[in-house]
Amino acid sequence: MSVTLDIREVEPGNEDYEQQAWELKETIRKREGVLKQRRGFFSDAYRRSTVHVAIETGQDGERLAGFSAVRRDGYILFLAVDPEFRGRGLGKQLIARVAENHATVTCHARTTNENALKFYEHLGFEVKRRIDNYYEDGGGAYYLKHGSDGGLAQRLSEFMRR
Ligand SMILES: CC(C)(COP(=O)(O)OP(=O)(O)OC[C@H]1O[C@@H](n2cnc3c(N)ncnc32)[C@H](O)[C@@H]1OP(=O)(O)O)[C@@H](O)C(=O)NCCC(=O)NCCS
Repeated sequence: MSVTLDIREVEPGNEDYEQQAWELKETIRKREGVLKQRRGFFSDAYRRSTVHVAIETGQDGERLAGFSAVRRDGYILFLAVDPEFRGRGLGKQLIARVAENHATVTCHARTTNENALKFYEHLGFEVKRRIDNYYEDGGGAYYLKHGSDGGLAQRLSEFMRR
């Protein structure tokens, strides 16, 4: 069966793919205990962000494989890749889209989210600080940053050309 995957941009104020993104986030929350934000926060943040959605088109129609949502200042509000699509460079491509438009990219990650922390550190993000009680459930977070030297954009744009 032929399947194609492409990344589309959803501009701020546009709700396209919001429901699918919410459902993917909820699937991940239930399985992995991360991405615990509530619906109101999620919807509000989604609509204020530029969202990069990875869409798989197959015989049964479209399916959301992953998405990144970024604020105007390069802060990543959400990053999620469907477990079935992980380990294929999709998370990196979604961050690459963000890095194309922002010299500095930042985010928070739960201190217990080893997967995400290893992923971000692998891409060259640095832990800037730890914040206790960052999340509503009392969980702590690391604030991560990729510097303004253009290194991330360059590294990821090289990847995009492959
Ligand atoms: C974190 C997440 C987005 C990674 O997505 P992914 O598509 O599997 O990641 P990629 O395949 O693009 O990986 C990119 C690189 O990071 C590395 N990497 C990814 N996860 C890793 C891990 N757990 N440990 C070590 N390296 C890892 C990959 O090996 C790859 O390296 P390479 O470029 O040298 O080949 C995905 O696991 C996810 O959605 N997790 C749940 C949601 C979440 O935690 N989001 C972040 C909230 S802050």
